Amino acid sequence: SNNLFCDAGSGYGEQSCGIHSTSSSKILIKGGTVVNAHHLEIADVYVEDGSIAAVKPNIKVGDDVKVLDATGKYVMPGGIDPHTHLAMEFMGTETIDDFFSGQAAALAGGTTMHIDFVIPVNGSLTAGFEAYKKKAKMSCMDYGFHMAITKWDEVVSKEMEVMVKEKGINSFKFFMAYKGSFMINDELLLEGFKRCKSLGALAMVHAENGDAVFEGQKRMIELGITGPEGHALSRPPLLEGEATARAIRLAKFVNTPLYVVHVMSIDAMEEIAKARKSGQRVIGEPVVSGLVLDDSWLWSSDFLTAAKYVMSPPIRSSGHDKALQGALVTGILQLVGTDHCTFNSTQKAFGIDDFRKIPNGVNGIEERMHLVWDIMVESGKISVMDYVRITSSECARIFNLYPRKGAILVGSDADIIILNPNSSLEITAKSHHSRSDTNVYEGRRGKGKVEVTIAGGRVVWANDELNIVPGSGKYIEMTPFNYLFDGIEKADENYLSSFQAPVKRFKSST
Ligand code: URP
Ligand code: ZN
Ligand code: ZN
Ligand code: ZN
Repeated sequence: SNNLFCDAGSGYGEQSCGIHSTSSSKILIKGGTVVNAHHLEIADVYVEDGSIAAVKPNIKVGDDVKVLDATGKYVMPGGIDPHTHLAMEFMGTETIDDFFSGQAAALAGGTTMHIDFVIPVNGSLTAGFEAYKKKAKMSCMDYGFHMAITKWDEVVSKEMEVMVKEKGINSFKFFMAYKGSFMINDELLLEGFKRCKSLGALAMVHAENGDAVFEGQKRMIELGITGPEGHALSRPPLLEGEATARAIRLAKFVNTPLYVVHVMSIDAMEEIAKARKSGQRVIGEPVVSGLVLDDSWLWSSDFLTAAKYVMSPPIRSSGHDKALQGALVTGILQLVGTDHCTFNSTQKAFGIDDFRKIPNGVNGIEERMHLVWDIMVESGKISVMDYVRITSSECARIFNLYPRKGAILVGSDADIIILNPNSSLEITAKSHHSRSDTNVYEGRRGKGKVEVTIAGGRVVWANDELNIVPGSGKYIEMTPFNYLFDGIEKADENYLSSFQAPVKRFKSST
């Protein structure tokens, strides 16, 4: 991977390149098609001091303003990736991309904010939060945190309140898989859902039946299947469907909104569709790998080629990908993440004799905006406005960041991309910005190239060159009680009164 950081004084670059030497805080984007989730118009966008100051045709400016011509191109909110793992300690190792290299990759691919998962330290949320604050010190773009809940007691319950009320976290992830490490049981899931509800925090689930996965893994090893294909065979869509259905029903029992992360199969998607059809508030997040890839590589005779596709839930057989794309078109699924969780070949090789030891995870933070454009917009499945919705605005709404993020509106943060629909690109490990030596999208070509990325009011990506400043990214605090909580209280009251009336029929005579 290359390293083209030219910001003078950052300690990361070579010399200033001329294009970036005007690190002007005033930018005018001229003549582009400005796209929001519900509106599209040809207009200029004027940026000053990190936010959008004007959006209208024919803005006149002085010559202290950097002017970018966007004629014939789309001017859109920077991507927001709701699902990343940077500098994550997992399966005996740590992801190869940290907050610096992962964010560099993100910016080069038009993503200007991501929400990463804080992993508690020995179950402690406070220690986990402190650890992630340190990891994120080098940030060159805005980021927020979800938090995983890996055990349950009074301390964790109290810490959840602190995280929501004082630390800017408004979502918690529960792992129904990874038996022996992150996995929690149904009792904890219920406790966690109840606590989320009372705090107005969004409950998120990794939905696979971890006990059955464990059984499936034993089955494969007994059959002598130790290669990467054993990973997929040991945890079929059936187990994702089961856990998704269970989480959905428990969330309904508690009456709290639910967010299902990395929906990888038709089985899981159909459970979400059914719940939404009945009026339940369930959000489904497919990830790029599930939308674009199929499991065929897992059978490659070259171990490292196969191992790079190992993630959980597994990448499914051909057909699931297209069905998930369709579910995005019709709104059964609402936004796209990546689950960017990269390990290099040396790390993937930990599992050469046993697929259970292959670190789980694939790349995507740099590729998401391009691939979603290619498979969804270029293919004619969705509009450019829907593209903005599923890559940015809906994420901002769900995590209470809208319209500061996810919109090109006066007052919004100046996180903006310019995408050229007539330009094409090829994805390769040689040219990507991740530290990984491989890329699961190697050799893929697509139309629609992010030519310029503006983050926090600065041009950070232009002319295929990054200009980033470590430490310039901000931690974005997120407030609880998003729109999915509207009406929850009323529904609870109605539910109670529906059976309280009959209960009160009987008056004690004593
Ligand atoms: O394989 C994956 N998905 N690795 C990251 C951890 C998770 O489950 O999201
Ligand atoms: Zn430069
Ligand atoms: Zn997960
Ligand atoms: Zn993940």
